[in-house]
Amino acid sequence: MEMKSENDTFEAKLQESIANPKNMGEMKDADAIGTVGNADCGDMVRMFLKFDEDKGQKVINKASFQSFGCQTAIAVASMATEMLKGKTIEEAKEISADEMTHEIGSLPPMKIHCGQMVEGALKSALETEDTQKTNNDLKDQSTLAQSLIQQKPTSGKIKVIPISDNI
Ligand code: FES
Repeated sequence: MEMKSENDTFEAKLQESIANPKNMGEMKDADAIGTVGNADCGDMVRMFLKFDEDKGQKVINKASFQSFGCQTAIAVASMATEMLKGKTIEEAKEISADEMTHEIGSLPPMKIHCGQMVEGALKSALETEDTQKTNNDLKDQSTLAQSLIQQKPTSGKIKVIPISDNI
């Protein structure tokens, strides 16, 4: 006898997101970029943001992402980029990994860090925007692959590591 558990439903929704990710790929004209990696699993996510003015306020017009390795991170990043459109920087900073995955439910314990990595990449991009508003060096971005090579795996607890976008 087969019973459909909550976990099966979650997996099905996750697979759906993975099969058809939205906003995946580099954004050449991004205004802000944030990259984070996880030393333990070796996965990385890079988030690209493009801003616009709406009634005198700066809002996110477009968001995209690149991800290496982790399918869950792809699914979470896809959902995150969809919910970012029209958000102010302050609103976007408030979005937690949990909110990003509300469509499919809470991530299982083994996958929580995947969501945190996406949240970290978004926060890192938003910080870039805060601190480097006039920095045209953003145009001169390294590739995700280069960043990955720079990553030095360490042992110990899982943690999200911000990776400089200006390597
Ligand atoms: Fe590490 Fe998903 S398994 S980010």
